[in-house]
Amino acid sequence: MESLNGKVVLITGATAGIGKSCSYAFAEEGANLIITGRRHQKLIEISNDLKTKFNVKVLTQELDVRNRTAIESFIESLDGVWKNIDILVNNAGLGRGLNRLYKDNPEGWEEMIDTNIKGLLYMTGAVVKGMAERKSGHVINIGSIAGHEAYSGGAVYCATKHAVNAITKSLRLDTLDKNIKVSTVDPGMVETEFSKVRFYGDEEKANNVYKGMTPLTGDDIAETVIFCATRPKHVNINEIIVMPSAQASAFFTYRGE
Ligand SMILES: NC(=O)c1ccc[n+]([C@@H]2O[C@H](COP(=O)([O-])OP(=O)(O)OC[C@H]3O[C@@H](n4cnc5c(N)ncnc54)[C@H](OP(=O)(O)O)[C@@H]3O)[C@@H](O)[C@H]2O)c1
Repeated sequence: MESLNGKVVLITGATAGIGKSCSYAFAEEGANLIITGRRHQKLIEISNDLKTKFNVKVLTQELDVRNRTAIESFIESLDGVWKNIDILVNNAGLGRGLNRLYKDNPEGWEEMIDTNIKGLLYMTGAVVKGMAERKSGHVINIGSIAGHEAYSGGAVYCATKHAVNAITKSLRLDTLDKNIKVSTVDPGMVETEFSKVRFYGDEEKANNVYKGMTPLTGDDIAETVIFCATRPKHVNINEIIVMPSAQASAFFTYRGE
């Protein structure tokens, strides 16, 4: 097992859900963290808590992954201990709406494509450049079962996660001679702010998603990410699909009698 102690880990979308859980899980292993997201105050609160609880170094950066120039200049500006990023967790992402394509809101399509595909690409391009020069690194993408299946109302979200799946596979080939690992962790239902965001703040609709079953938690996914990140040098986890015990696919969830 590889130690994460003293490693530098950049996590996108660390202000909530899976990204926040990953921040705590990596800090618990002694990693130094660069945590990013759009909500500055949340980043500060999480950073202070991590430093107190785990005595690790934490750098916070308010960053919208849709802003390519902001990402590039932030990565270029890193120095000292932060310059050499060992692990990138591409987690920032969202779903918008669950409507039939012809009734859906194209603004949501733009948001999903810009965040889940283009944002992930911008961050990956900027960070992997340095990893390739140093011949060392690990990119862990948070995909989804929506990258393996397609469901009604999810045309664009599923398309973005299929894209993440393809990017993961291509990046693995692109970096094979650079001692860089590439993994994707693809969850089923995880109870986070995801559904609240998907339904534009409608709490009732969001809560109904998890009605009658026990969904995964952000911590369940963080544990899986840590598993990928701690394999011995010669082991690359390509892909892990994680589902709640009561969910068999995007279509089939057992919610009791
Ligand atoms: N929850 C699920 O059921 C589920 C299942 C499969 C896959 N996933 C994937 O898991 C990842 C994390 O989702 P989650 O469930 O943890 O949802 P969440 O609780 O809503 O967290 C999403 C995170 O992404 C950040 N984010 C969103 N847009 C961003 C942007 N433009 N720039 C920077 N950060 C942005 C948010 O931070 P700010 O708002 O502060 O920017 C937040 O920290 C996503 O890629 C999602 O597609 C989720």
